[in-house]
Amino acid sequence: MRAASPSLRVHSTRLCLSRAGYIGSVENLGRIAMTENETEKRTHFGARDVREDEKAGLVHDVFTNVASKYDVMNDVMSVGVHRLWKEAMMDWLAPRSGQRLLDVAGGTGDISFRFLKRAKGSQAVVLDLTESMLTEGRKRAEASEMSAQLNWVTGDAMALPFADNSFDVYTISFGIRNVTRIPDALSEAYRVLRPGGRLMVLEFSQLPVDGLQRLYDLYSFNVIPRMGQLIARDRDSYQYLVESIRKFPDQAKFADMIEAAGFGQVKFRNLSMGIAALHSGWKI
Ligand SMILES: C[S@@+](CC[C@H](N)C(=O)[O-])C[C@H]1O[C@@H](n2cnc3c(N)ncnc32)[C@H](O)[C@@H]1O
Repeated sequence: MRAASPSLRVHSTRLCLSRAGYIGSVENLGRIAMTENETEKRTHFGARDVREDEKAGLVHDVFTNVASKYDVMNDVMSVGVHRLWKEAMMDWLAPRSGQRLLDVAGGTGDISFRFLKRAKGSQAVVLDLTESMLTEGRKRAEASEMSAQLNWVTGDAMALPFADNSFDVYTISFGIRNVTRIPDALSEAYRVLRPGGRLMVLEFSQLPVDGLQRLYDLYSFNVIPRMGQLIARDRDSYQYLVESIRKFPDQAKFADMIEAAGFGQVKFRNLSMGIAALHSGWKI
């Protein structure tokens, strides 16, 4: 009995550590076991290991810093390709007149504007953690005379300030990888969608061929932070953006997470060979 007890503790500690993304040496396991509860509450912020309760503040700082340059930088970094990905999202989503959209981590409103253009008479709520991103979006809405169909709400994807079953469509585009606890955001998406409602996620993903992934990493880790420095005078925020992409689960793992939140008919499509991917699920 005595001999079995430490090895059981070691095993459960390992399990918990690997879920949190840590690798502990065998020598450290005794010490780590004492802080098991603490390590469960840790997460990543790009390549950095941070406390869970710190992450939203750090993410908020990044997007506050980049807000005024966000749209320009998106075009420059992706050579305009993000526009094609967003159109591909709309093609698959096929917005219908009269639908009510919740666009979470909606930032400056790219997804909502596209949705409203395709579905006359629809309404959209753009929710985001960062007020300055929404401010940029509101300016764009006024310029394109779409303000009447839009609401802008500051909030967290993990605790949505909306009633159950209140939206037809939930979108999140390049937002979910920044969320501290992704399963909580997916559960919230499920809760606020009406039965028959649809979730669609656009996010950076993994290239299926190692050589291509290495080439893409070379580009993103070397070029994007430098562009951030040059155009937005902010290397660190763009360093975080590329690091956070590497931390996000691959297409199949993310599909499993969506299913685990309760969604049915979960499917994904690669965009640009897997640099990004679309995931779709239904609240059945
Ligand atoms: C890369 S931008 C994407 C903006 C827009 N959806 C697009 O596709 O261009 C990521 C956005 O996610 C927001 N965000 C990050 N974590 C969030 C959270 N937990 N809840 C809501 N928004 C969040 C950020 O403030 C930022 O505006």
